[in-house]
Amino acid sequence: MIEFVDVTKSYSVGTHALRGITMQIEDGEFAFLVGPSGSGKSTIIKLITGELKPTSGTVHVNGYSLERIRKREVPYLRRTVGVVFQDFRLIESKTVYDNVAFVMRAVGAKEHQIRERVPYVLELVGLETKSRRHPTELSGGEQQRLAIARALVNNPSTIIADEPTGNLDPARSLEIMNLLQEINKLGTTLLVVTHEMNLVQQFGNRVIAIDEGLVVSDGMEGYRHYEE
Ligand SMILES: Nc1ncnc2c1ncn2[C@@H]1O[C@H](COP(=O)(O)OP(=O)(O)O)[C@@H](O)[C@H]1O
Ligand SMILES: [Mg+2]
Repeated sequence: MIEFVDVTKSYSVGTHALRGITMQIEDGEFAFLVGPSGSGKSTIIKLITGELKPTSGTVHVNGYSLERIRKREVPYLRRTVGVVFQDFRLIESKTVYDNVAFVMRAVGAKEHQIRERVPYVLELVGLETKSRRHPTELSGGEQQRLAIARALVNNPSTIIADEPTGNLDPARSLEIMNLLQEINKLGTTLLVVTHEMNLVQQFGNRVIAIDEGLVVSDGMEGYRHYEE
């Protein structure tokens, strides 16, 4: 579960990125987080992953208290939260297979587990025939699916995706959202940041809308408010 209670985040004097966010995302939910550029979406993601600490308020993620988490605990938190970064963060010198295997090795998985799990995850995202390619040989949509495979491979209970369709055409974007929906149906909690309202409207999911660091609406119809 993800829970924010009255969370503020200021980067420096005068930059109040978040001004009192309260929200709760239950296990198994698929929620969209929407809002204009600069409204605080990426800041929320960085608070969930422990990359940043709140200025005030409390953040709970999968049993960890992020406002007082210790550095050595962060890797354990990160095993529970898979992140699809806005800029992918793929390793260009490694193959598709090794980009995914790398994430398992980083948490100390055994080689036999890696040999079993990586092909399964690559098949899930439809990249099973590309395992020996390098990221630069993939299309934008394929790179995005690789980023999703990597977020998935350690079987986190939660996946956070920051603008996962940012650089894709509408058909590819829909494919990625459908893939994320499938992953959610397998039991993973999903929080997806996007500004693509027409895409959000094709799914009947919860929409949390933020603006200027505050939640301005939250619900199945939240996007209507946001659009006005
Ligand atoms: N590292 C930083 N230092 C100072 N200000 C920042 C930093 N990161 C983000 N901001 C500011 O915080 C606000 C929210 O940013 P961000 O969370 O990235 O918004 P979004 O992802 O919705 O575009 C913006 O005003 C942005 O300029
Ligand atoms: Mg952002």
